[in-house]
Amino acid sequence: MEIKELLLNKILNRRAVLGVVGLGYVGLPLAVEKAKAGFEVIGFDIQDSKVDALNAGHNYIGDVVDEDLSALVTSGKLSSSSDFKRVASADIITLCVPTPLDEHDEPDLSYVLSSAASVGKYLTQGSVVILESTTYPGTTEGILKQTLEEASGLICGTDFYLGFSPERVDPGNKHYNTHNTPKVVGAIGEDALEVIATLYEQIIDGEVVRVSSPQVAEMEKLLENTYRNINIALVNEVAKLCNRMGIDSWEVIDAAKTKPYGFQAFYPSSGVGGHCIPLDPKYLEYRAKDFDFDTTMISSAFAINRSMPAYCIKRFEDALSSRNIKLDGAKTLVLGVAYKPDVDDSRESPAKELITLLESRGAQVSYFDPYISEFALSPERKIFSLKSFDECISLAFDACFINTAHSGLDYPTLISKLPYTFDASGISRRLNLDAGMQKKVERL
Ligand SMILES: NC(=O)c1ccc[n+]([C@@H]2O[C@H](COP(=O)([O-])OP(=O)(O)OC[C@H]3O[C@@H](n4cnc5c(N)ncnc54)[C@H](O)[C@@H]3O)[C@@H](O)[C@H]2O)c1
Repeated sequence: MEIKELLLNKILNRRAVLGVVGLGYVGLPLAVEKAKAGFEVIGFDIQDSKVDALNAGHNYIGDVVDEDLSALVTSGKLSSSSDFKRVASADIITLCVPTPLDEHDEPDLSYVLSSAASVGKYLTQGSVVILESTTYPGTTEGILKQTLEEASGLICGTDFYLGFSPERVDPGNKHYNTHNTPKVVGAIGEDALEVIATLYEQIIDGEVVRVSSPQVAEMEKLLENTYRNINIALVNEVAKLCNRMGIDSWEVIDAAKTKPYGFQAFYPSSGVGGHCIPLDPKYLEYRAKDFDFDTTMISSAFAINRSMPAYCIKRFEDALSSRNIKLDGAKTLVLGVAYKPDVDDSRESPAKELITLLESRGAQVSYFDPYISEFALSPERKIFSLKSFDECISLAFDACFINTAHSGLDYPTLISKLPYTFDASGISRRLNLDAGMQKKVERL
């Protein structure tokens, strides 16, 4: 039988063994979905703490149901390892490793390449590799293929198949998750495409969209996230203008979104966080340079979003000063350092720059985040969350900066007790505050 028929047969009969490399926010939910679909799954990670936790049936990702994970581990459907020799027993290996930026704000593909080299060493004839990490168009057919071929001595298309399928998971989303979000697949060659698309059709309850090449799939993912980045930059710029003109930008957006077509609401914020939206446009900008192409709009959006922490702190300082409170020495509470509400992820959170700027102006900063107990301001310095929301109220702060509004907190009581609150999250618009309380709050 040919590779394609063998693989399709194994997939349709649930005899294919699936490897997932990188067991973080993307990889672990994916590994669980695959095991729930009836496949034997081996998860790989270089962090022994994650491997040990999973093998003991302990979940550490919010979007994964604890009982699902422990049941899959107990039944033997899901196991984890840091030993890449076990790649040899996997038929299809998916890479879900980080794709950050380096110190020059350029793509850092070192995790993709090192995990590909580890996988390639043990890759067997007739297997499949799928990249799910977000990256610039050309990565899969270029440096990833080359790394896998060099490490394995096998030939892509003849000995093993290779494809790209972007991960679209939105951590904390109550409606869409790994299981029901449509999946886009691009692969090198028709046979590889059929095998990879068939695999996802067995796992997810959503459309599997086949595109003509990995480059199309890589590009569409960057388009999705750049679209968000640019729209957030647009509302941030409009919010700045509205403030100058004395108009409430939140009211403007709420009015605009009553249009049933042609407008999608985005809201201003202290900046853009998370592992995707702030970084992905930089991948596109970087790749465009190879084609002597200037991504003017993408670069401007990046700059506008990056300017937001400094803009917010200026507004905060000016407002305090108009109330005869000096920022220098002010006891300041920052509420919420996660990059969005109700998640435990603080990667790329603008809170880091906000707190650094506040401290540089002499403010005495404390923060509270029920999801993030410690927060690194630099590789050398961590700060720790107040223990409870009650402390936010009892410690008599001079001012509060609401950065991320997690649900379930008593914002009206906090606002009523403090002289001044700057609300970068927009939560105050939903609180029905009376006129007296409204005077104590300023929205971004
Ligand atoms: N987090 C999201 O919301 C999200 C959404 C869509 C796409 N993505 C993309 O998915 C990819 C992964 O993101 P994430 O948020 O899951 O990252 P993460 O940091 O949560 O997880 C990555 C995991 O990979 C492991 N790892 C690193 N190098 C490795 C190696 N050489 N071998 C094995 N394991 C290794 C790390 O230890 C970590 O556990 C990124 O490209 C990201 O852009 C993320």
